[in-house]
Amino acid sequence: MQTFNLGMIGGGTVGSGVFHALQVNGDLLAARTGVNIKVRKVAVKALDEPRPYEIPASLMCTDWKSVVHDPEVHIVTELVGGTTLAKDITLAALKLGKPVVTANKALISKHGKELFAAARDCGAPLHYEASVCGGIPIIKSLREGLVGNRITQVYAIANGTCNYILTRMQREGAEFKTVLAEAQAHGYAETPPDLDIDGWDSQHKVGILASLAHGFWVRDEEIHVEGIRDITPVDIRFADQLGYVIKLLGIIAQDDSTRDSSSPRIQVSVCPTLIPKSHPLAGVSDVFNAVFVRGDLVGDTLFYGRGAGKDATASAVLSDLADAALDLKMGTGHRLPPFVSFAREGAVVPHGEAVSEHFVRLTVVDKPGTLARVASILGEASIGIRSVIQPEGHEGDSVPLILMLHDAPAGAVKSAMDRIAGLDVVKARPVTMRVESLE
Ligand code: HSE
Repeated sequence: MQTFNLGMIGGGTVGSGVFHALQVNGDLLAARTGVNIKVRKVAVKALDEPRPYEIPASLMCTDWKSVVHDPEVHIVTELVGGTTLAKDITLAALKLGKPVVTANKALISKHGKELFAAARDCGAPLHYEASVCGGIPIIKSLREGLVGNRITQVYAIANGTCNYILTRMQREGAEFKTVLAEAQAHGYAETPPDLDIDGWDSQHKVGILASLAHGFWVRDEEIHVEGIRDITPVDIRFADQLGYVIKLLGIIAQDDSTRDSSSPRIQVSVCPTLIPKSHPLAGVSDVFNAVFVRGDLVGDTLFYGRGAGKDATASAVLSDLADAALDLKMGTGHRLPPFVSFAREGAVVPHGEAVSEHFVRLTVVDKPGTLARVASILGEASIGIRSVIQPEGHEGDSVPLILMLHDAPAGAVKSAMDRIAGLDVVKARPVTMRVESLE
């Protein structure tokens, strides 16, 4: 059996997870693929840093260059995180013609276009399965399993921390801040948690999925992002009464008018979204991730699993290592390049033009004429009201007024809300959230 040597850069949580996974399942991998992967060296930041799985001292060093340039190293893993050193490592290995496997979503989303061009020019593949939704094989599914489909919609629950927080708010009626503090105390959420709860982590993942699905590189700046900080138990309760749950949802949706064209226009956003309780995505709870993909041939598909964690991430890295080793063995180079640009003039729809239904929660003074004034502003903006709830039994000076709006561009809804916020009967900033029927 042919053996390929692995040079690992990064031996922390993910790196040591991959090392461990190769120890426990390396034989199985070899039996299945007919190639053996042997760890030759692991470059780490500090030899004595704590790591969840032990790596023998004899394998470790602190000089990544000596590992990448070692002529006996055939495949390189970049598992250091960040984007600066990670990019240097990746380019250095690719230039030597060595396949690189990374788990780094920030790297791919920031420098993907350049790195994939380098991979093509160097004739060495860049694998990145673990960069999106950890253990869920969504990159391979989009690139290979669904290669014959036009992808019309992708809806992703791509951040486990946010999903955990929203699940507990839903179950317990708890406040966002309380659940976040507990999640941090249990080590589920990072400190500071901004990357997760403000939606940036999801943005990286959704941008990569959008680029893959539509064949042009979607830049982070083109993706509308809202986080979950402002969601309250009141919003969750009303959404529930209306038959919805609130999820932080990555949305990639192609405009119908561009369906058959090589110049797709796509909506790409990450925002708290009301989805029907009856949809399978609504049942994705706690730290789990899920990606719902609709293809023109296959119809609806749903991928579910752990989006983070050392073992789940190692599962994705091992899959990439198997591909890299098989390509070396067969001399096939990269059968399908890591990213294929196939849309001639794809474009992301500016957020203001993105059409969807909306949930609105207003805090208003309960007096004659309030509803009429709100309705009149919406009417002037040509925004239709689908339903209205003003619950009984509220005490105090103000009451919640919940509106479900028909399809309207986000920009028109925002302008109308700015006008509504200025009414003297409106006592707090209007809360608006996207609604997706997922049909
Ligand atoms: N922090 C992420 C999450 C995992 O909570 O899902 C890494 O992308």
